[in-house]
Formats: sequence, C-alpha cells, structure tokens
Amino acid sequence: MSDSTELKNQMEQPNYVLQNCEECFHNIICRSADGIIIVGHDGIVRFVNPAIETILCQSAAELLGKPVSFTIGSDEKQEITIPQSNQETCVVEMRVVETEWEGEPVHLASLRDVTDRKRVEEQLRQKTAQLEELNRTLIEKVREEVDKNREKDHLLILQSRQAAMGEMIGNIAHQWRQPLTAISLLIQDLGECYVYGDFTKEYLDTTIRNALNVIRHMSHTIDDFRNFFKQEKEKKAFSVGEVVTRSLSFIESSLRFNNIAVEINIDDDLLAFGFPNEFSQVLINIIGNAKETFRERGISEPLIRIQGCREEKRAVVTITDNAGGISEQIIDKIFEPYFTTRELENGTGLGLYMSKTIVEKNMDGKLTAFNVEGGACFRIVI
Ligand SMILES: Nc1ncnc2c1ncn2[C@@H]1O[C@H](COP(=O)(O)OP(=O)(O)O)[C@@H](O)[C@H]1O
Ligand SMILES: [Mg+2]
Repeated sequence: MSDSTELKNQMEQPNYVLQNCEECFHNIICRSADGIIIVGHDGIVRFVNPAIETILCQSAAELLGKPVSFTIGSDEKQEITIPQSNQETCVVEMRVVETEWEGEPVHLASLRDVTDRKRVEEQLRQKTAQLEELNRTLIEKVREEVDKNREKDHLLILQSRQAAMGEMIGNIAHQWRQPLTAISLLIQDLGECYVYGDFTKEYLDTTIRNALNVIRHMSHTIDDFRNFFKQEKEKKAFSVGEVVTRSLSFIESSLRFNNIAVEINIDDDLLAFGFPNEFSQVLINIIGNAKETFRERGISEPLIRIQGCREEKRAVVTITDNAGGISEQIIDKIFEPYFTTRELENGTGLGLYMSKTIVEKNMDGKLTAFNVEGGACFRIVI
C-alpha cells in the first residue's frame, strides 16, 4: 500500500474526523479574544479558555474545579463588573447559553471586556452633557441679552413717545390759541352789548352758537390727537396723501405761526402698507426738525417740500427743507438715540431714532437722510 493511500484511508476513519474537528474547535476557543467559561449547574468551573484568565486575572489552575466567583444568571446578556488586582474594575459583557459538556448540562458563558468601550461611552455622555449644558447656558445668555435689548428698545420707544406727546401738547396749545381767543372775544362782546343796551335774544343765540362751534372744533382737535396716539395693532393699506394732509393739520397752526410754507406734490393714488398713525408720527418728527432748524438758523423764507410717488412697487416720500442742510460731521449720527445738537430744552435726540425704528423695524421700509442744494432731504421708502 502506498503512503498516500494509507493517509487517505486514515482520513476516512470516523475517529480521525472527530479528532480533527475537536482540534479545530479547541484552536478557535483558545484563540478567541472573548473569555469562555463553562460552569456546571453545581456552580463549579469545568473549562476556561486563556482569554478568561486575562479578564478575571486568575490562572486556569486557580479557576478550574472551583466555584465561579460571579453569578451566572439565566439572562441571555448581562453586564458585570469584575474587580482587578490593581484596585480597578473591568466591565464585562456576559452572554450565557445552556449546553452540554462531557454528557452533563452546563452554562457556557462568553465574557467580553467592554471597559474601554464603556469608558469612551461615558466620556461621550459627559461631553454630550457638557455640550448640552453649554448650549442651554448659551441659549439663556442670548435670551437674556435679547430681553435686555428689547427692554432698552422699549424704554427708548416709550421715551420718544413721551417726547412726541410733549411736542403734540405744544401743537395742541398752538391749535387752541386762536379758538380760545375767539371765545374770550365773544364773551367780552356779550358783556359790552349788555352794558350798551344792544343785548337781544337773537344776539345771545348767535353768540352761543358761534361759541359752541368753536368749542366743537376744539374738541375735534383733541379727538384727532387722541386717535393719533392710539396703538395700531394691524398693518393696513393707506393713502399717503391723506396721511400727509392729516399730519399737517395737526401742526398747521405752529407752521403758520413760524411762517413756514409747505408744498405738497403727492400722486393721488399713492398707497402704502403699514401703520398710518406711526407714519404720521414720522412725518411730524421730520417736519418738526425742519421747523426747529429754521428757527435756530433764522431762515427768512422757510419752505418744506413733500413729494410722494411710486418706485418699484413701493411708496417713496421725500421731505426736503431749505434750512441749510445737516453738517457732514454729524450726518452719520443723527439716527442714533440721544444724539442731538439742540439746546437742552429743545431736543431729546430721540425723534429720528424713533422715526427710523418705525419705518425700518415696524414697516420694513427704509429711512435715509442726505443733503441737497440749500437743505436736507429725508427719504422714506415704505
Ligand atoms: N432738517 C434738518 N436739518 C439739519 N439738521 C437736522 C435736521 N433734522 C435733524 N437734524 C439734526 O439731527 C439731530 C437729531 O434729530 P432728532 O433725532 O430729531 O433729535 P432732536 O430733534 O431732539 O435733536 C438734530 O439735533 C439735528 O442736529
Ligand atoms: Mg427732533
């Protein structure tokens, strides 16, 4: 029989095949990075592979035939902590299956050291928590700052509204000066008539009617002013020409008193979208500034020109004066809150800031200022 035939015969023996299989299995178990331990139902260790010695820090001799040092639960997968010699611990993931070993039922547990994975997971968890905390504080900080800013804006708007109201009261006083004089003349006349004997029932009725008319007009003025200060909640389409006329009616007395001429040239059908009262406040601020500048500089023929037209779907209104213009040194600052060149009692420095806020923040528009021949021009796009 040749050598090769002998080997072939040997290999065909069932014993040989089995032995070979066992060797293979043994090799796999011994080289496995996972620790494998077989424990009888009596809790005594029957078999360990080399990896388990490293994980448990005990030699095979110390483990075999002895009770297992940890509980082998019936759960398929569990995590256990194993104390190490250097007072540290290692975390092990254990899977248990029921099997047979040398004819008896046993637990086969495979143990995988997951300490590093756990450490990384823990670090990741901490980092995530830190990041979340950082995010939270950042959001809080941003919110705080936004709140502070909002409060500041709110305060500024409140102050500028108060300043505007102060100016309005001045305007009311102006509007009322003439009717008050008229009423006092009517009353004086009544007295004189009585003294000189021309007093008739008809005369009395006429005087009362005239006085009531004047009073009605005065009360009308107050209503107009009150409406003007009402908060507008919703934006609406409004006629630019109408709002300009109404705004001028509030201040016409003081314009007349200061001999200020106003030229209006606004497209009839010019509509804008926003808050008409607020827009009116902007106009009054800008016109008031021109009036104040005329007075400061003693301009002899003060003129304000208001123009309005449509440009690329938006309404553009310009207010131009002939008061000599804004000095180039300050033109970049005039919209800042509290910036004023006026004497203490005449300026708060809030008018233009307020106007810009109204136009740009409340109505998504644009308010700019520049100099033209002989004066300043304020341009509102809404
Ligand atoms: N029409 C104008 N001509 C020249 N300067 C102006 C004109 N309008 C505003 N200014 C300048 O802009 C500054 C700021 O105006 P404003 O914000 O209304 O505050 P205030 O009128 O209280 O000073 C004024 O002090 C003035 O120096
Ligand atoms: Mg002003």
